[in-house]
Amino acid sequence: MSERHLLVLDAGTTSTRAMLFAPDGTRVATAQADLTQFYPQPGWVEHDATEIWTHTLDCARQMVARAGGTDRIAAIGITNQRETVVAWDRQSGDPLGRAIVWQDRRTADQCAILRQGGHEALVQRRTGLILDPYFSATKMRWMLDHWPQAAAAGDRLAFGTVESWLVWKLTGGLHISDASNASRTQLMALDGAGWDAELCDLFGVPGSALPAIVDNAGDFGATLPDLLGEPIRICGLAGDQQAATIGQGCLATGAVKATLGTGAFVLASLGDRLPISAHRLLGTVLCQIDGRRHYALEGSIFVAGSLIQWLRDSLGLIAAAADTDAIARSVPDNGGVVLLPALAGLGAPYWRPEATGIISGLTHGTGRAHIIRAALESMAHQVHDLAAAFAADGAPWRMLRIDGGMSANDWIAQDMADMLDLPVERPADVETTARGAAMLAGLGCGLFPSLEAATHMASASTRFVPAVEAGVRVARLAGWHSVLAKP
Ligand code: G3P
Repeated sequence: MSERHLLVLDAGTTSTRAMLFAPDGTRVATAQADLTQFYPQPGWVEHDATEIWTHTLDCARQMVARAGGTDRIAAIGITNQRETVVAWDRQSGDPLGRAIVWQDRRTADQCAILRQGGHEALVQRRTGLILDPYFSATKMRWMLDHWPQAAAAGDRLAFGTVESWLVWKLTGGLHISDASNASRTQLMALDGAGWDAELCDLFGVPGSALPAIVDNAGDFGATLPDLLGEPIRICGLAGDQQAATIGQGCLATGAVKATLGTGAFVLASLGDRLPISAHRLLGTVLCQIDGRRHYALEGSIFVAGSLIQWLRDSLGLIAAAADTDAIARSVPDNGGVVLLPALAGLGAPYWRPEATGIISGLTHGTGRAHIIRAALESMAHQVHDLAAAFAADGAPWRMLRIDGGMSANDWIAQDMADMLDLPVERPADVETTARGAAMLAGLGCGLFPSLEAATHMASASTRFVPAVEAGVRVARLAGWHSVLAKP
């Protein structure tokens, strides 16, 4: 390896990874460690922030060794599961408790009270977000209300999303968050430079505990000496869904991608137009470069890959996720089975935190393959409903680019094209989240003059075109909507 590489740290929901990219976009190496999931009560999901940090460090060290030392690395880019909150003590640098994960529903009542108090319109107008336990603000307040150690920490209390936590640990005390992650807290106005004082008051979050908001690309600081060898500059930061949008090269207004990971997240680039939805979608910051914001409209589906994991680990219906493609093909249709995958409530465009899952249409004729096929079909059903909401918001899709681990399933990719009645494109390398973070790091360290100039790093695609009769599509969607309407 003669040229210097970009090192990406990708702290996702179920695993932590580090990857090395060559500046031409080639993914050279990957290290991965699974992350422990804690489910202390129904609806609660927690992570050990120390485990996120030690796995990140371990994976990063493997990549530095693979690159041949720190002088072979031009810069670090960090990308992360969004909204998840870490609280730590500035003095010790230790977490004050477990991180509360984006999927966690424990603050549903708090959100309902704020909604009843008539606050949703203001929150949505200012942040682009709905009042839902998904976002960080009510999680931060919950920590202050339930952890004496957080309430007692005073000025030593630091809050951050996962990129903020990792930057603190890597640099030994730099407290920053990029605008894409900050836009998911519900504490930053989409068009405001810093934290919004009125929103901090509304949610009861002290501004003194929050990080400084920075661009997505720039020279933010260096890793502590000896952590990875010589210090490496941290030059890119982004929430994983925004990073995937960039990694797919979806920068032009109207370009849209869906990342099928633990959940499924659809983002359409809106350029500098402020995204306010009238159809229960989210407005979010796609990136901030040189202080200028670029926005996106987002539809967040809470359960995607985690449904397949549930079929495997909780029900024992499959041995491996990869088996689902052949099993779905082994039956001509779903046999009347429809699955509502509300294992963590329902996100956009429904926003029903209290919803639970349904498997409907069971008969003596139902086999395992029908249930598995119905589970896979639920992905395209949800994405279909998002497409309708985007169109109603004046952002219709002309095609959809997909990525993420689950997009490698050809059956799902084809089913999505069929249900959307649109072409679906999948890049050869579905690790677009890390690729986007590499592009930002390359921009931040001066390897590329602009984000547009970095899009050569995006990889070539396979195209899936609609191949189902309209009648089949209409019947499938009717079945889905009737199950969705069940209380
Ligand atoms: O908003 C949550 C999202 O960032 C999680 O992404 O890839 O870990 O499912 P992922």
